[in-house]
Amino acid sequence: MRLSKLSLAPVALLALGLISALPAAAQLTPKQELGKALYFDQNLSLNKNQACASCHLPPGWADPRNAADPANLVVSEGSILGLFGGRNAPSSAYAAFSPFFQWDAAAGLFVGGQFWDGRANTLKDQAKGPFLNPVEMAMPSKRAVLEAAADPFNPNLLAYQTLFMSVYRVDLASLDLNNTIVVDAVYDLLAEAIGDFEKNRELNAFTSKYDYYLAGKVRLSGNELRGLQLFNGKAKCALCHLSAPAIAADGVSVMPPLFTDFTYDNLGIPKSINPLLAANPVDFGLGGRADIAALDPQGLQLGKFKVVTLRNIALTAPYGHNGYFATLTDIVNFYNTAGIPGMWPPPEVPHNVNRAELGNLGLMPMQVAHLVAFLNTLSDGYRPGPSPLAFPLPPLP
Ligand code: HEC
Ligand code: HEC
Repeated sequence: MRLSKLSLAPVALLALGLISALPAAAQLTPKQELGKALYFDQNLSLNKNQACASCHLPPGWADPRNAADPANLVVSEGSILGLFGGRNAPSSAYAAFSPFFQWDAAAGLFVGGQFWDGRANTLKDQAKGPFLNPVEMAMPSKRAVLEAAADPFNPNLLAYQTLFMSVYRVDLASLDLNNTIVVDAVYDLLAEAIGDFEKNRELNAFTSKYDYYLAGKVRLSGNELRGLQLFNGKAKCALCHLSAPAIAADGVSVMPPLFTDFTYDNLGIPKSINPLLAANPVDFGLGGRADIAALDPQGLQLGKFKVVTLRNIALTAPYGHNGYFATLTDIVNFYNTAGIPGMWPPPEVPHNVNRAELGNLGLMPMQVAHLVAFLNTLSDGYRPGPSPLAFPLPPLP
């Protein structure tokens, strides 16, 4: 967790203007429309069977195949059937709020970035990866992605041509695909549009029951409230998964909580014995990145993974970077009893395991259930319509 954190009690919301009088409806800019079409287009994968949305589908914006069978399908299957990635697909929702990957010198911690290990700085950088990843969309080259977008059989062709022209002044029909400078530039624009789409209200809805509670429009049940109190208190969850509104990046606006401080920790999750992952090498997370390893001779980042948002968490099983936990009860049980000898297999990475902020919590089974009841209030779409809260969307681009 991070040391200095500005946070506000929910009672201050009204005074600070977090409650919106007339929230604007979800509306996409032309660039976001382009990004949305690309995000949902299966034609942009090797076997024309996979889009970003395949592994990041609303309402959870994670892999629905895995959520339907979280005890077995802990990682996602790629466009080439039978090939699986090495990590659990996180939600793409709310990822837009992650700051650039950076070293916070005051706190002595890495913060931000995209992916479980923060290796992409922005959503745009992130979006360039999956098309070319052999265990994801498996396209052979950037050029192949652009050709698939401009393919006369692509049902989106007309929309792509119109939007590439109106947004970027690029004529998709007459690109010189032999020119790598052109290909690189247009591929960048495509990724930028996808990243931009991920910043809109569809992925950043703030319409959970908890948001209605913060807005004073609904009460939590007794058990949900007990769960919230545990979350902020005895169970220590809010040390990393911030649950109170805070000052937004602009230094003025109030942000509803994102349930993450975007820092990195080693929770001591065991190595997966699932057949899809068992044979994989040890995953060192942040400290396993070559660039970080070079800066970190003492190995202080080994085994650390990003604190992820808990918004929509009930919809995105399994849990943890390796999908070790099939249910929310499983992972809360882990937080409760981690570190007690004999309770769990040893951590996959023994270095830097955080024992100060989790483990040995002494929660009763009933309290575990209350925490899960609270986590279940974080799914968007509690009521139809716009968020009851006013909030700044992430800045563009
Ligand atoms: C085959 C499944 C699959 C496909 C297809 C896929 N992703 Fe992902 N996505 C993942 C996995 C797995 C991770 C985590 C990988 C890691 O951390 O190393 C991830 C991570 C992310 C993240 C980071 C979220 C965070 O909180 O750090 C974003 C954003 C994202 N993907 C968006 C996209 C976009 C945009 C596309 C299409 C261009 C896409 N994904 C295609 C599986 C997939
Ligand atoms: C010390 C910081 C810290 C504390 C305290 C903490 N978490 Fe986490 N949480 C993390 C990190 C880091 C991850 C990702 C770890 C990984 O996958 O290796 C995570 C992951 C999760 C996930 C899985 C997310 C996903 O998309 O797979 C859930 C659910 C969760 N935490 C809930 C809780 C609850 C409930 C508590 C309190 C009982 C709690 N956390 C306390 C840091 C923390």
